[in-house]
Amino acid sequence: MKKKVAIIWGLTGQDGSYLAELLLQKKYIVHGVKRRSSLINTSRIDHIYQNPQSKIRNFFIHYGDLSDYGNIFKLISDTKPDEVYNLAAQSHVDVSFQKPEYTADINALGTLRILEAIKNLNLANKTKFYQASTSELYGLVKEKKQSENTPFYPRSPYGVSKLFSYWITVNYREAYNLFACNGILFNHESPRRGETFVTRKITRGLSDIIVGNINCLYMGNLSAKRDWGHAKDYVRMQWLMLQQKKAKDYVIATGRQYSIRDFIVKCCKHLGIQITFNGSGLKEVGIVNNIKNNKYPHLKSGDIIIRVDKKYFRPSEVETLLGDPSLAKKKLKWSPKYNINDLVEEMMNSDLKAAERDKFIKDNF
Ligand code: NAP
Ligand code: GDD
Repeated sequence: MKKKVAIIWGLTGQDGSYLAELLLQKKYIVHGVKRRSSLINTSRIDHIYQNPQSKIRNFFIHYGDLSDYGNIFKLISDTKPDEVYNLAAQSHVDVSFQKPEYTADINALGTLRILEAIKNLNLANKTKFYQASTSELYGLVKEKKQSENTPFYPRSPYGVSKLFSYWITVNYREAYNLFACNGILFNHESPRRGETFVTRKITRGLSDIIVGNINCLYMGNLSAKRDWGHAKDYVRMQWLMLQQKKAKDYVIATGRQYSIRDFIVKCCKHLGIQITFNGSGLKEVGIVNNIKNNKYPHLKSGDIIIRVDKKYFRPSEVETLLGDPSLAKKKLKWSPKYNINDLVEEMMNSDLKAAERDKFIKDNF
């Protein structure tokens, strides 16, 4: 049987790396796009090449950028993909306030450029398209639980750029009969999550505190609530959406939400640390209450390990996100393998190892 060909924009990111693994397991020929950078930016996919049973013959990496239509057109023309996954983006909400035009160019027009290339190459009958849409579209939420029918109200240049991409994907489906769908994905994390997103900042920061690399972690809005899942579970759904008979948009979420404070408490619990939060606003602090077996020589009861710094607050915040994945559960048989505690455990264990390695290097070299 002829192997399916897929191309992934955003290969070097969290989701791109897990999706490449999944598609290679499914015997696809995978093309991925990476940006030129002054430092090597392939740490999330290097293991695919390093695997002794290398899937290298099915795995091709190309330079590219979503700002460059000619490059996009050529990649699609050369590979004639069965499936295109657009996971590339300036994906940091806070950064989008500082780089609004760049964010719009890549996240909004970048999507249009891919869709235009598929259309102009007359591939609408062959190529299926997945767009990485987001729960940030709901922003100032209009319903307690957000589903495919909840109105959008984005709250950042990132959210607004993704609103364009959502609608241009729907428009190309309706106008040109392209198999194009939006996955409206709620926050999903993993040990491969970028280090400046809140969950990873917490798991890394707490790991650095307990090995003695730092004393305290500075955070923004601790009361924001998110519906967090595991990236591995979510990339499976990206693939599944393109295997359906009819293109449709789906919410992917767990249906449970926790505050940033809750996430910190869970991570501390995993480490055997009891933490209490005292005070409010910028004066709120997280204090160590008790440490199981007194196992961390650098920490003692009464230590303040969390403080709030206003520089991490956003000009307009998304206070709460909670997804309703009923449609995906029914039609795609969605059921995540990981819960929040599994996620915390995997992220904490991975970052603890990294912090211990850093400490060893600092102490010995
Ligand atoms: P990520 O780790 O930040 O990865 C983003 C990818 O896009 C990286 O490979 C990055 O390349 C690439 N990229 C950035 N600018 C580009 C450009 N100008 N041209 C080409 N590629 C570019 O994000 P993620 O967490 O995997 O998320 C994947 C997608 O899902 C994103 O579109 C994000 O907005 C969306 N999304 C994410 C979540 C979530 O919770 N993770 C939820 C909903 C939607 P470098 O590696 O070189 O930086
Ligand atoms: N990054 C960060 N750093 N966020 C903090 C901090 C901090 O020190 N302190 C509190 N927060 C709060 C933010 O204000 C926000 O309310 C929440 O933690 C989550 O922030 P992020 O982890 O940066 O993610 P996000 O929800 O803004 O965006 C992510 O999820 C979206 C889906 O809802 C990104 O992955 C987006 O690309 C994605 O679309």
